[in-house]
Amino acid sequence: MQIHSSIPELRQALTRRGRVVFVPTMGNLHAGHIALMTEARTHGDTVVASIFVNRLQFGPDDDFDRYPRTLQDDCDKLSSAGVDLLFAPGEADLYPEPQQYYVEPPAIAHQLDGEFRPGHFRGVATVVLKLFNIVQPQAAIFGKKDYQQLMVLRNMTRQLALPIAIIGGETVRADDGLALSSRNAYLSAAERSEAPRLRRLLQRIGLAVETGETDFASLEREAADELDRHGWQTDYVAVRRQADLQAPDDSRERALVVLAASRLGSARLIDNLEINAGADR
Ligand code: PAJ
Repeated sequence: MQIHSSIPELRQALTRRGRVVFVPTMGNLHAGHIALMTEARTHGDTVVASIFVNRLQFGPDDDFDRYPRTLQDDCDKLSSAGVDLLFAPGEADLYPEPQQYYVEPPAIAHQLDGEFRPGHFRGVATVVLKLFNIVQPQAAIFGKKDYQQLMVLRNMTRQLALPIAIIGGETVRADDGLALSSRNAYLSAAERSEAPRLRRLLQRIGLAVETGETDFASLEREAADELDRHGWQTDYVAVRRQADLQAPDDSRERALVVLAASRLGSARLIDNLEINAGADR
């Protein structure tokens, strides 16, 4: 696997590479990231990964400084996964001058996670557009684990007419159902055994909706209360339409997704579950 930190060197290395599939990350890679690399392989000729902890998407109270940085380990994993090129720029490679032009995402990015992390999706969209311009892939893969992020980037790509296919990768979980995340490392042993509750509550909501429950507000409130009773601080639990992440205005809506974000100790965990409610409701 080739590793490049400079933009001109990466561009040089990317000539005559056939169909390029790109998987951007912030490193500290786990099996969820690696599954995206494996999926990428099936969509093109050259797999390019990037590792960059993007300051622009972190708020002032976020975990930018303590975000785990494990480059050597990550390189070993990417190389074993058959990744062809890794772009691992330093701060000065990607932001040689303060970034003053931004991608300003629309309302979809100001709700849910965007409400609790103001500016987050603006930082994500800006760095991803910049990375797209550097790598110029034909396809890019993002995990459904970050469902709203996937949707924001899909919409950005469509609205800006970028010639890039956006592919959603399934969420990889631990045996007990907890979605793999670099932020799970912040959990104490006791918090780690509590953490799967989030997923269980999403499944409970999914089952209720699939079997005809239409009072989404009550389901959301009960789940948030149950989390908070067990020591979590919940930002949101929300049943939304898959298509646009808006609240369903018609209880017969079938393609739904329930999304949640909650803090347990010093970790902020997010998860979601797609619900394809039966036609017989
Ligand atoms: P990061 O959190 O490192 O995630 C990189 C990619 O891995 C994202 O597309 C994310 O959705 C996916 N991912 C994370 N956990 C996963 C899991 N358990 N199963 C499947 N996929 C998973 O998301 C970012 O970085 C950044 O915002 C980025 C897009 C790189 C822009 O800075």
